Amino acid sequence: MPDHAPEHAPDHVPDRRWWQGAVLYQLYVRSWQDSNGDGYGDLRGLLSRLDHLSWLGVDAIWLSPTMPSPDQDWGYDVSDYLGVHPELGTLADLDELIGAAGARGMRVLLDLVPNHTSSAHPWFADALTGKSAEHRDWYVWAGPSAGGGPPNNWRDFTGAPAWTWHEPTGQYYLHNFLPAQPDLNWWHPPVHEAFAEILEFWFSRGVAGFRIDVAHGLYKDKLLRDNPPLEPGGTRLSGSYGLQAKYNMNQPEVHGVYRDWRAIADQYRPPRLLLGETWVSSAAALAPFYGQDDELQLGFNFPFVFADFTAESLAAVAADTAATLPATACPVWTASNHDVGRFASRWCEGDPRKIRLALMIMATLPGAFVLYYGDEIGLPDVAVRPELERDPMTAGGLGGQLSRDRARTPMHWDASPSGGFTGASKPWLPLGDTAASNVAAQRDDPESILAFTRDLIRLRKAQATPDLARYEQVTLDGGLWAYRVGPLLVAVNLAGIPARLTSPAGEVLLRTGEPSPAGEDATVLHPWQGLIARAS
Ligand code: GLC
Repeated sequence: MPDHAPEHAPDHVPDRRWWQGAVLYQLYVRSWQDSNGDGYGDLRGLLSRLDHLSWLGVDAIWLSPTMPSPDQDWGYDVSDYLGVHPELGTLADLDELIGAAGARGMRVLLDLVPNHTSSAHPWFADALTGKSAEHRDWYVWAGPSAGGGPPNNWRDFTGAPAWTWHEPTGQYYLHNFLPAQPDLNWWHPPVHEAFAEILEFWFSRGVAGFRIDVAHGLYKDKLLRDNPPLEPGGTRLSGSYGLQAKYNMNQPEVHGVYRDWRAIADQYRPPRLLLGETWVSSAAALAPFYGQDDELQLGFNFPFVFADFTAESLAAVAADTAATLPATACPVWTASNHDVGRFASRWCEGDPRKIRLALMIMATLPGAFVLYYGDEIGLPDVAVRPELERDPMTAGGLGGQLSRDRARTPMHWDASPSGGFTGASKPWLPLGDTAASNVAAQRDDPESILAFTRDLIRLRKAQATPDLARYEQVTLDGGLWAYRVGPLLVAVNLAGIPARLTSPAGEVLLRTGEPSPAGEDATVLHPWQGLIARAS
């Protein structure tokens, strides 16, 4: 164990399995707080706003990519894995942030991108110099197919062939995302060694863990076989552009990488956390990423993210997750991120009643709860006019997708036009309606979504047990979904008509919407109303 590993965790945060039941907060650094008036958020801005997160009750912050990058994909194209992007700050700023967050009882996770590098990374620059270059085999190269043209039918994120021809060396290189993001070759042992060193570098600085980008993707089929067509009913979690992501990702060898990384993470005190962007279509496909409690400690539950906001759909995912993940596995509940958009819009059409219910569900299902910045004030997606779009990947409504910019717009701290985010006249993305939802107004209002989110987190912490509570469905009837989690009964009415809770409930601890008028049966849930009670 590297005994020089700095220890920032306050005494009251239990070391072992500290992620179990934790509240994590995904923070898009460029959109959180600008400290130098350039219109982009940065680490010093983040430092100045940390109190918001400790006030809310956050246990750990996951920062969107912070490493140097040409920003073809806003940091998901890394050109130096051991640095800090100069537009965001310095290594010293990051060290200070880890210390300042630790002093407030919060841990800091970084985003790690092991599937691909930037084409500007020195490894790739070297690989381009010739077939015998030291780093040539760090990337995936292949000659033309028998009939000429790209080696196989794989498509990249934009729908174009996932292969780019490199004339000087007469081979194609693979990119599952943009041509500026060449995929690494995980069949090549030096790649493993390089990433083990990257992990140790950051863990030793006090970084509490990583969110792992494209966690299911690292290995590709050795034979580079064509992907089969998407089966009827296949979703965006099973593939895209009419093809299953069978061979260009999703290879079982990836589990060896996570066993190795878990062994590294476990050498530190507290153990470091591996949280995967496990883009797979079912709990059955997610389970292997937890291994025998020797791989990732957390994996995003995308079937939940893409569930419909109905009792039936959400309850089905909750039941499947509980029944399928290994007993030691801690599920992850989230519904917004920088790719898929914000749940306040996707699920709730901006309706505050629905937003409260969504928060109540995510905060009470057993596991880790990940808020995306702004979820706590019910921030909706912002319609970004085409001329203001900044995401090259989804520019112009690529493949029918909505621009990802809509969920990357700056945080609303107050009702001013700049939202308190920046002193610049032009923030990097527009803010939308700052008066409609902002932190300042909601902090002063005990009935606000922000106050509700904080109440939920407090209640959650007050009820926390060392072991994950068991999920047990009690009722699923039309829009009414009730479940028991440890000592709590949660009932939500996801419908526009009243529902009556038939299962016995004890004292009501938290209720959304209007309190029941005196004399009204407390078991009646109004449309889009929910409650948390003691299970009786
Ligand atoms: C992940 C990221 C996404 C990025 C892609 C390529 O899905 O969340 O933003 O574009 O990987 O790195």
